[in-house]
Parts: sequence; C-alpha cells; structure tokens
Amino acid sequence: MSLEGKTALVTGGSRGIGRAICLRLAVQGALVGINYVSNAGAAEETLAEITAAGGKGFVTGFDVADSDAAQKAIKEITGEHGGVDILVNNAGITRDGLMARMKEADWDAVLDTNLKGAFTCSKAAMRAMIKKRWGRIINITSVIGFLGNGGQVNYGAAKAGLIGFSKSMARELAGRNITVNCIAPGYIVTDMTSELSEDIQEMIKAQIPLGTLGTPEDVAAAASYLASVESGYVTGQTLHVNGGMYMGN
Ligand SMILES: NC(=O)c1ccc[n+]([C@@H]2O[C@H](COP(=O)([O-])OP(=O)(O)OC[C@H]3O[C@@H](n4cnc5c(N)ncnc54)[C@H](OP(=O)(O)O)[C@@H]3O)[C@@H](O)[C@H]2O)c1
Repeated sequence: MSLEGKTALVTGGSRGIGRAICLRLAVQGALVGINYVSNAGAAEETLAEITAAGGKGFVTGFDVADSDAAQKAIKEITGEHGGVDILVNNAGITRDGLMARMKEADWDAVLDTNLKGAFTCSKAAMRAMIKKRWGRIINITSVIGFLGNGGQVNYGAAKAGLIGFSKSMARELAGRNITVNCIAPGYIVTDMTSELSEDIQEMIKAQIPLGTLGTPEDVAAAASYLASVESGYVTGQTLHVNGGMYMGN
C-alpha cells in the first residue's frame, strides 16, 4: 500500500495516536505534515522518528480550533507541496465533568477542537483534492461517540457529530474520487488515557473482549488502510478499533 508521491497532514501528530499515524504513513512513502498546538518539541521528536525510519516529513504548528490560523497554514502547505492528499483529523482534547457542573467553556473547547477543527481543516484541504480528483479524509472519532459516557457529554457530542459530518461529506465528495471515513478507537494507551487510575483501567479491561487496551499502532494500521489507494471503494464508513468493546455500527 505505497503512498509514494502523496502528501499527508495529521493534526495532533506530535503525540499518541497522531504520532503513530505520522510514522506509519511516512514509512509507506508519504511526505507527512506533523501538526501540533503547543508541544513543538514532541512534534520534532515525531519528525526525528520519521527521518530515522527513512521517511520524510515537516512540522506545522497551528491550533485547529482557530479557523484563521488553520486555513492559513493549510493554504501554505498547499502552495508549497501541491496540496494535501491525505488529511487525518486526529487533534482532540477532553474536558471531562458531569453535565450539571460542566462549564460552557469546556463544552466549547471540546466542540471547537474535535468537531469544528475537522470542518475547518477539511474545507481548507479539499479544494486541492477536488482539483486532483483524489483525496482521503480520515476523521478520528471514538467509541464514546457510539456508547456515550457519563462525564463526557461534550466529548460524546463532538465524536458522534464527526460521524454525521463524515457521512455527509462522503456523499458530497464521492463524485470527485475523495473518500471520507472515520476510525473509532476504543481505549488506547496515550497521554489522554494515562490519567485513568489502575482501578478504572481494570474496569475498562473487563469490558474489552480482547482483554487489553489498544496501542497507537493499532489505530495507525487502520489509518494506513483508509489512506491507501486500495481502499478507494470504501467511503462514509467507521472502522472500529476497540478490542471488541463495541461491535455495532
Ligand atoms: N487515547 C484514546 O483512548 C482515544 C480513544 C478514542 C479516540 N481518541 C481520539 O484520538 C485522537 C488522539 O488522541 P490521543 O490519545 O493520541 O491524544 P493525546 O495523546 O492527548 O494527543 C493529542 C494530540 O492532539 C494535539 N492537539 C490537541 N489540541 C489541538 C489543537 N487545538 N490543535 C492542534 N492540535 C491539537 C496535541 O498537540 P500538542 O502535543 O501540541 O499538545 C497532541 O498531538 C483524539 O481525537 C482523541 O479524541 C483517543
């Protein structure tokens, strides 16, 4: 599944799942844009790992929730590299709390980053894809968008929103040979889940038929397929990478 000659952009590529996706796409031959918001050092580490593996990449810092900044950066990348062929909307945050106590700012921050960010970046990247009559947009949602989770009404809404967003965009762009799909990870070992206590982790594992949390590489393997030329007849879908925790669609 060679990605030779393709340019990819992975939002939130500095750490966790995004970093693993960057590495995987670069090893397959894509030139990979590694986006971060505040952790430039981590983004440089991702780039160093790519280079050590014989791949090519570049670092691009911008806040996906800041429409002007995201549009400007993607316009620059398009000018320099002839467009983004593969966009992975991975940047995400949590601001957990029970609904009764959740501040409006926590709702806005999660929706702006996880959902509006995907809209802004997709809109900015799709013009060049349309011109080339080829593109791959992959949105990283979550098992929480399907199951819900007490304490995460903002995150659940944003992740469920990404599903409807992706299906509608898939219909709009199908005629231009651009596919739009989601990956819904279950619980994956990253900074985002490292704050969970041992007890909670054991409780989660008990709900996972495969009996363990996933790795960023498990998600990157799914991204690798959805980014490939070979996945061209798959659009509007969600690929669940969750150890069997949720089997619906
Ligand atoms: N871990 C899980 O169990 C799990 C499960 C389901 C879904 N997901 C989803 O998978 C994605 C990645 O999660 P993760 O666990 O890898 O998270 P993580 O380890 O916390 O990393 C988050 C990444 O997103 C970037 N980011 C955050 N806000 C941003 C913004 N406004 N603009 C640009 N980049 C931003 C961070 O950049 P900096 O390094 O600069 O902070 C970092 O690279 C998220 O969408 C998350 O919701 C994760």
